[in-house]
Parts: sequence; structure tokens; C-alpha cells
Amino acid sequence: MKKKQIKILGIETSCDDTGIALVSAIYDPSGKEKTKAAVLAECLSSQVKIHSQYGGVVPELASREHLKSLLPLTQQVFSKANVLPSDIDGIAVTTGPGLSGSLLTGTSFACGLSEALQCPIIPINHLEGHVLSVLLECNSSTHRECDFPFLALLISGGHTQLVEVKSIGKYKLLGQTIDDAVGEAFDKTAQLLDLGYPGGPEISKLAIGGDKKKFNFPKPLCNKNNLNFSFSGLKTAVLTEIKKNDIGASNVKKDLAASLEYTISEILQIKCRMALEETGLKRVALSGGVASNKVIRTKFFELSDQMNIQVFFPTQRLCTDNGIMIAWAGIQKFISGFQASEPENIEIYPRWPLSKI
Ligand code: KG4
Ligand code: ZN
Repeated sequence: MKKKQIKILGIETSCDDTGIALVSAIYDPSGKEKTKAAVLAECLSSQVKIHSQYGGVVPELASREHLKSLLPLTQQVFSKANVLPSDIDGIAVTTGPGLSGSLLTGTSFACGLSEALQCPIIPINHLEGHVLSVLLECNSSTHRECDFPFLALLISGGHTQLVEVKSIGKYKLLGQTIDDAVGEAFDKTAQLLDLGYPGGPEISKLAIGGDKKKFNFPKPLCNKNNLNFSFSGLKTAVLTEIKKNDIGASNVKKDLAASLEYTISEILQIKCRMALEETGLKRVALSGGVASNKVIRTKFFELSDQMNIQVFFPTQRLCTDNGIMIAWAGIQKFISGFQASEPENIEIYPRWPLSKI
């Protein structure tokens, strides 16, 4: 069968990053051959500087910044890609989960554009965007491409989930955090240590040269026979050590950061091992902002050797929030024959689990 080409605009505004991207794909309508996608252009506007003074995201400020950035970034993407707005086949937009104001800003913009261009709008679950990102561009333990079925470990600032991914739209939640997300554990500990926001990259930088075994932090739920996580105890454990030790002493902060990072990598490895044993899956794909962490990546390459399984990570630019992963998820929905809705019927879902897609 003759191959077809599509171009989809992706719009991401679920939290504090405005991400816009134009992705094209050549696909086989019979589904026999793999879809080949190319990123034509992307723009990302981070609000980190604005929110860092408050130690976390301020929802009202986030919506206001999205409103300012959406139109200029979209214009830039079209001009960088040298594509006319009238040439796109659809607009994929994040409609949940996330901050209501941020989601509403991006979705309203997408609906207006869809009406003006008379092209379909494809609502995308942000978590699905992260999970499917490894199918676009990835690093792997075996230099192969990721394929279905796989175990997804989604580790971001708002979520920590283990999901069995059977195919597009077929997701089974196996476990999740019962309190803080793993990214929050990094962010909150960074605040305790007077580091900047977001905390993950700051903790990683500080941890270099630190003693990862200096502090023996707890690994909550690791001896339980379930696939849930708990991270809130970690920040309390760090706080206890801050009170007990002279935090000004040369290596204490470094050792705390290294021990925390190492403990988190061990918790994630232990739970993934359990999930792989339980499901019999042979591939695990990490995604979300925390998946860019090098210590965690190393721990999973070890797991790949130990269990003879394949491990995948999105390339660095696809780990944190971006418009490319939303456009890519939109392409896959479009190809698998999604039903278009009228823009006025598109709703936002601030709480929207992957299992309810
Ligand atoms: O996926 P993401 O950009 O946004 C959400 O959907 O939450 O993830 C942001 C989270 C933040 O908590 C940030 O501290 C964390 O990812 N993060 C990291 C690293 N880079 C970002 N955590 C650990 N190590 C990193 N290198
Ligand atoms: Zn995210």
C-alpha cells in the first residue's frame, strides 16, 4: 500500500513549560511498516526563572506566561520549519493531567487554531506523551529500538508510575507513588539543602564526588510485595541528618546529595525488577524529567545486564516536558484512527490517569 505523510503541531502547557513542535511522519496505512517521524521544528519556553524564587510552580503565574508565549512560539515553529499553518493535518494538545489554568490556556489556544485552520484537534494525555516518547528517539542498553509491549517507568515532578504498555492506548497501571512523586523528593530535598529549583539537576551536580554510602536512607515499601512507591519519608530522613550534622562541613551536603540520589536509584531498580518478574516483560522504558538522571540510568543499565532485558531512555530533550512528545503521541493517535471531536467539545482533565484513556 502507498505510504502517506502527515504533519502534526504539538502543544504542551500542562505545567510550567510552554512547548510547541511540528513533527512529520511517513506511515504505512496498512500498519505493516514502522512509522518514520522527523522533528521539523520545536520551541520551548521554560518558566524556571520565574518560579524558582518561590521554590515551586505558582499556578497563576504559569497560566499568564503560557498566554504570553503561545502565539510567538507557534509562529517561530512554523517559520523555522518553513511550513504554512494551512499545511498541517492536525493539532495535538495536552488536555490533562496538570494545572487547570495552564491546561485551559493551551487547550483554548489549540481550539482557536483548529477552528481557524479547519483541521482536527487531538486531545493528548500528558503521561501518554511521556510514555510514548521512547518510541520516537531513545538511548538503549542494546542499541535497538523500543517496541510494544514494554514496562514503562514514568518518573517526573508530578508522577511516579509503573505501567504495562501493551500497545497505543492499552495501558495497565501496575503501581504508583502513595505520596510524593520521585521528582518531588529531589525538589523538596534540594530546598532543604538551599539549592535551586528544579532540584533534580542541582542534587545531581552536588552529588559528584560525594560518598553515596555515607548516609543509609530508608527504602520505603521495598520489602512489600506490591509495586507502589513512597518517597515522602526520604525528605524527612534528609532533614533529620541535616539537624544532626554540621551542614557547613566540607563534604556533608555532597554526601547527603549522593546518598539520596543513590537510594532513589536503588528503590526504582528494586521495584522495576519486581514488575519485570511479575509481568514477564523483557523491555523497560523510563521517561519523564527524572529519567535524565545519570546515576539512575547507570543503575538501569546494570539491571539490563543482570536480567538480560532491554532498557530504553528517551534522548535528553524528550525527558522533560516538551511539545515534540505531544505531537508524536498525536501522530500515533491519528494513524491509529482516532475520532475527531468538535473544538467546542474538547475538555480539560486536571486529573486523568493513564488507565482511563
Ligand atoms: O517531566 P518533567 O519535566 O515535568 C513533569 O511532568 O513533572 O519533570 C520535572 C522533574 C522535576 O522534579 C526535576 O527536579 C526532575 O524532573 N529532574 C531531575 C533531573 N532533571 C530533571 N531529577 C533528577 N535528576 C535529573 N537530572
Ligand atoms: Zn511531564
